[in-house]
Amino acid sequence: MSWSEFRKVLPQTARISTTGALEVGGCDAIQLASEFGTPLYVLDLAEVRERLRRYRDAFGGYNVFYASKVFLTKSFAQIVAEEDVGMECVAGGELYVALTGGFPPERIALHGNNKSREELVQAIDAGVGRIVVDSFQELDMLRQLTTERGTVQRILLRITPGVEAHTHDYLVTGVEDTKFGFTIGEVAMSAIEMAARSDNLELVGLHSHIGSQIFDLRPFDEAARKMVRFLAEARRATALEIPELDLGGGLGISYVPSDEAGSIEDLAKIVREAVESEAEAAETEIPVIKVEPGRSIVGPAMLTLYTAGSTKDLVNGSHYVAVDGGMSDNIRPALYQARYTFMSALRPDAPHDRAYTVAGKLCETGDILGRDVMLPAIEPGELIACAGTGAYGYSMASNYNKQPKPAVVAVFGGEKRVLARRETYEDLVRLD
Ligand code: LLP
Repeated sequence: MSWSEFRKVLPQTARISTTGALEVGGCDAIQLASEFGTPLYVLDLAEVRERLRRYRDAFGGYNVFYASKVFLTKSFAQIVAEEDVGMECVAGGELYVALTGGFPPERIALHGNNKSREELVQAIDAGVGRIVVDSFQELDMLRQLTTERGTVQRILLRITPGVEAHTHDYLVTGVEDTKFGFTIGEVAMSAIEMAARSDNLELVGLHSHIGSQIFDLRPFDEAARKMVRFLAEARRATALEIPELDLGGGLGISYVPSDEAGSIEDLAKIVREAVESEAEAAETEIPVIKVEPGRSIVGPAMLTLYTAGSTKDLVNGSHYVAVDGGMSDNIRPALYQARYTFMSALRPDAPHDRAYTVAGKLCETGDILGRDVMLPAIEPGELIACAGTGAYGYSMASNYNKQPKPAVVAVFGGEKRVLARRETYEDLVRLD
C-alpha cells in the first residue's frame, strides 16, 4: 500500500503535513490526537459539504433526504440544514436530535417499520413534511391521529419492489421476504387505495429502498423501472396525482482502494433515464425523483485515529497490533465482515509492507478491526488511522466493556469543532 492508494479512500483534503504526518481538513493528525485523545473520529466538513452539493446538483435540493441514521448530532443537523437538503429519520430519537438541532421539520421524512403511536404523534405535532408508511396498522393509526387532530399529513408508502441488490445479506431490503414495507402488487395497491380514501392523508408518493453498500448500479435501474410501472397503475386506480417517487439510499463507497464504487452522478443518470423512459412507456407523468443517501455522504469523510498498544509476532510469521478502540467504536468488521484501510498516521508515506491483524481492546475474540492490513512495523504508541469510518461507525458505537464513546471532531481549513465530546467515566454511570 502506498500514499497514492490511500488517497482513494481518504477525504480530498488529506495530505502529508510538513512534519510528514497525516493531515486532514488542514489539521495535523498528531496534534488532533494529542488535543482530543484517541480513539478519535475526525470528520472532514469540506468533504461532507461537497458530497451534499453533488447530490443536490444531481437531484435538486429538497429531493435529497440525508439518512440521519448514518451519523447525527445536533450540530451536524445544522450543517445538513445549511446545505439546503432534507433529512430522513427512522425513529423518535433521530427526530428529536434533528429537531433540537434546529432542522426544519417540513424538510424531514419519517421512516420506520414499527413506528409507535408516540412517534407518530411526535412527528405530526412537529409538522414533519412526510411520513413514509410501512404497514396497514400504521396507516390506520395515522388516519385516526390526523382525523382526531383535524390535520392533513403528507405520506408516502414504502413498497418492496422485489429487486435483489448485491450486497451483504444483512443490508438487503428490497426483496419480498423482508420486514419492511408493502409487497409490490395487490398488497401495496390495497394500501394505496386505503390511503386514497382518507381525507386526512395526502398520498404524495411511493418509496422503495433496495439495500445499502451497493456497487452494481443495475438493481437501482430495475427498481426504478418497476416502481414507475407500479406508480402508473396506482395513479390509474386512484385517479390521484401521486407526484413523487423516492428511491431510497444505498450507493456504495470504497473502503479499500480496490473497491469500485459508482459515483453520485452515475447513480443519478441511471435512475433518471430509467424513470423517464419507463414513464413514457407507461404513459404517465414523470414523477419527481427523491433519494435518501447516507453512507455516500459521510462515510468517506471520516477517519478514526487510534493509538497502537501491544504488538505480538507469532511463530507462524503473523503480526498483531492492538489499538485503544475496537468493536465499541466500529462494529462493522465484526457484524458485516466489513474491510477498511489502515495507515500509520505518523508516517503515511513510509512503506506499508508488513501484514498485520489489527485487534481491538474489547474482551471478545471477534474484536478484530482488520486482517491482512498492510502497515509499517508498528511501535507501541504510534498513531494509526482507519479511513472511511463515517457511515454507521459512531451511530452504532456501544459502551461494551464500559468503553466511553470517542469524541467526534469536525475539521475544515485548519479549524476544529467538537461535534460530540468524549464520554467520561461519569457518563457511564449517569443512568444508574
Ligand atoms: N433509506 C432507507 C429507508 C434506509 O433504510 C437506509 C439505510 C438509507 C436510506 C440509507 O442508506 P445508505 O445510503 O446509507 O446506504 N448499518 C449498516 C447499514 C444499514 C442500512 C440501513 N438503512 C452498515 O453499517 O453497513
